Amino acid sequence: MPSPPAADSPVSDPNHRIYLDHAATSWPKAQGVAEAMVDFMTNVGASASRGNHASAMKANELTRSLRSRLTRFVNAESAECISFHAGCTSALNAVIHGLVGPSHAIGKDSHLLVSAVEHNAVLRPILMAANSANAMLEEVPSDAHGSLPVDELIGRINDATRLVALSHVSNVTGAVQPIADIGEAISRINQSRDASNQILFLCDAAQSLGYLPIDVQALGVHALAAPAHKGCGGPPGIGMLSLSPQWHDQIQPWMQGGTGHDGRSDEMPPSMPQKLEPGTMNLPAIAGWLAAMDSMATRQESALVLAERSQQLHRGLNAIEGIQVFGRPGPLPIASLDFGPDLPPDDAAAILDAEFRIEVRAGHHCAARIHKYLGTESAGTLRISGGHGTNPEEIDAVIAAVAEIAAQITSLT
Ligand SMILES: Cc1ncc(COP(=O)(O)O)c(C=O)c1O
Repeated sequence: MPSPPAADSPVSDPNHRIYLDHAATSWPKAQGVAEAMVDFMTNVGASASRGNHASAMKANELTRSLRSRLTRFVNAESAECISFHAGCTSALNAVIHGLVGPSHAIGKDSHLLVSAVEHNAVLRPILMAANSANAMLEEVPSDAHGSLPVDELIGRINDATRLVALSHVSNVTGAVQPIADIGEAISRINQSRDASNQILFLCDAAQSLGYLPIDVQALGVHALAAPAHKGCGGPPGIGMLSLSPQWHDQIQPWMQGGTGHDGRSDEMPPSMPQKLEPGTMNLPAIAGWLAAMDSMATRQESALVLAERSQQLHRGLNAIEGIQVFGRPGPLPIASLDFGPDLPPDDAAAILDAEFRIEVRAGHHCAARIHKYLGTESAGTLRISGGHGTNPEEIDAVIAAVAEIAAQITSLT
């Protein structure tokens, strides 16, 4: 297999690593995140909505600030639309199990549309909820790069359709889905329906929040779920759901517990966002996410830079003989690839790590169904994903390493 990097290469520094696994989680975290978390743990430490002392007030203030910051960031109708969850997965479960079920707003005989590129965080709760509701689930296929056919998707909406769930960006190929077109079509259909028969447009923004601008009202998205730890550069363990007001009365609390409000009642408070927020909040993560949002507001890097990295990555990979590349140049530097039967993605990732100190991910990336359309069902793909701060040298290094590995395979076969 390929020889280790030359002694004068930056990669030869034993402390150097090239982190290209941003689609799993961003690293390094945004400036100020770790400090804000340590500061909270060291100097505040209190719970939000659980007391009137000065430290509890500080915790309340942090929560309020982050909620209003995110309200503006995604242009939600009001701060009540934003609820905090243990991550994007929890936010997705809260909205899916809160609205789809046997005695829920979206129930028996409903038709639910999901795409083939969905992450298990969407697919698994929808499968379970559809089953318990006796609803019908239909999958919209993707092309060989993870892009969805908009007209076909819209054409599959029928009178019984009550939910359309889509990832904004594929975590396998980086394909950006045309959610504005789909949102517009759903809004048009909803206008001709009564209030009890509306279609919920759910968007999984795990791979896009903090990378791409999101305006839920302009996009016609009713429910948007996202974590702090990817594009925003925040910590893991916290995520948000933005839910538009027309669904507030209909959503049922997925989890029950203490909220710090209406403590004498046996039931969860009826108001948003409290009805979706049982349990003690992850305040250190809230402090960290807020710092990440501050850092984002002052970041110099433009969307253009990320798009340039994407061009560079795809151009470089596509020029390499003997590999197949999935995904196209776009706004984010993500690509998946396959070295063919002689080198499974897991082994390729291990070589990149051990011999080049380049960290990428191999496998199905928790999105099994898309691999049917990529032709990579058995072993998945090798995914290279850059993010904020990824520099051109790092992209060049991974391209050179992949070329070297591909050349070795070709010479052996
Ligand atoms: C497209 C997509 N959706 C949902 C998730 C789940 O996010 P989390 O693990 O932060 O809950 C991920 C995480 O990788 C993802 O890539």
